[in-house]
Amino acid sequence: MEFGNDCKLIVGVDYGTTSTGVSYALTGSSQCNEVISIQKWPPNCPGLKVPSLVACAGSPGRSLWGFEVRPGMKSFAWTKLLLDPTFNCDSFKVEIREVAGALGILKLPEDRDAEEVVTEFLRHVHQHVCGELKRFLFDTMSPGRVPIEFWMTFPATWSEAVQSKLKRAASEAGFGDKVFTVSEPEAAALAVFRISKDFELNVGDGVLICDCGGGTVDVTSCFITDMNERGVPYFEQLTEETGSNCGGINVDCNLYRLLVTKLGEDFKNLSTTMVGPGSNFMKEFEYIKRDFNGELPYTLTLLGPVPREITLSPGDLRGIFDPVLDRILSLILSQIKRLMQSLERVLSTSKIIFVDGFAGSPYLQIQLKSALRQQMAEVGVLVAPTPERMVACGATVKGLQGIVAQHTNAVDIMA
Ligand SMILES: Nc1ncnc2c1ncn2[C@@H]1O[C@H](COP(=O)(O)OP(=O)(O)O)[C@@H](O)[C@H]1O
Ligand SMILES: [Mg+2]
Repeated sequence: MEFGNDCKLIVGVDYGTTSTGVSYALTGSSQCNEVISIQKWPPNCPGLKVPSLVACAGSPGRSLWGFEVRPGMKSFAWTKLLLDPTFNCDSFKVEIREVAGALGILKLPEDRDAEEVVTEFLRHVHQHVCGELKRFLFDTMSPGRVPIEFWMTFPATWSEAVQSKLKRAASEAGFGDKVFTVSEPEAAALAVFRISKDFELNVGDGVLICDCGGGTVDVTSCFITDMNERGVPYFEQLTEETGSNCGGINVDCNLYRLLVTKLGEDFKNLSTTMVGPGSNFMKEFEYIKRDFNGELPYTLTLLGPVPREITLSPGDLRGIFDPVLDRILSLILSQIKRLMQSLERVLSTSKIIFVDGFAGSPYLQIQLKSALRQQMAEVGVLVAPTPERMVACGATVKGLQGIVAQHTNAVDIMA
């Protein structure tokens, strides 16, 4: 395939608190604007997202990142939150702060600040993404030079100043002088509306999008005002986004507390490298989190001076998920209440659509669908297909909507 003169690559980067996703699309008159997600990360690990982790390796000057971080390494997690000076651990419940401390989360290296750690992580992301883009272009087209535009997502609560920090870190990491940004809820909405047919959305519908991430769950509601000829909606945001610290990591914190109750000091005394981010223990639990549907027991291996196996009954697991799901439910219901009080329009139908990583939990889906249907029989409750890729896809969609940009970046494809 030949390049058109108007050909360019749009890349959406969803740098999340716990994991990061990247999508891209080749745009131009001869292109179909298909949004593709990166699905492989070093060292050859499959996944729509990569853990937002960096670790100091033995050799100076070379840090490891994402899936490269191995059990036993000291790693830096949740650094994104530390970019925001107004972020205060107090906004997390006391128990979570305790657990974060015990697991070595929200720590920085002695000689670097949050922006430098974020830059380090993003440098790895950039390097990997460029390799993937070159491969994609090489497979797709003849050699040449393709302009590239990067779109990063940021939390809606961030001030201009914090957004600037992220842009600066991204530029420093190699993403170029001009990095574009889009808020996470807008990106989520754009991604949902791009596949509106999957959700049977129509003009006049009210849509509540619930972004279930690691740290927070954010809810935003939109009204579909019109549709273009391809069935892509135009929408208005109806309410300010609201959020609460009831994301997936809260389930991990509840597991921690359950094990402290079951095993006492034996568990508390384990080092952060044994139970913190990147440890075998957390990897095993991540598998359980993604698989649990409310019915089966699971076994966790706990390494340490005396390795042991711990069985988690379905009741144990329900007990660590349920308080988190209850909080998500009340967040949604309070947003709906606020919406009903301020709404001047008549909605044809209403839908609640879940996106982002934690929305992939089968147990979350079963419980929240059933609770919401009990409360509001007429409301459709849906989960986006591959929910964890939606925010990065939405950032790409934002770029595809066509802004006229000065191209300071380009990818060369060598023959
Ligand atoms: N398929 C899944 N099932 C259950 N939990 C999941 C799944 N995928 C990710 N998670 C959980 O969701 C959280 C990460 O979600 P993600 O959307 O990547 O967060 P963020 O955008 O905040 O970085 C983590 O707590 C992770 O354990
Ligand atoms: Mg997210």
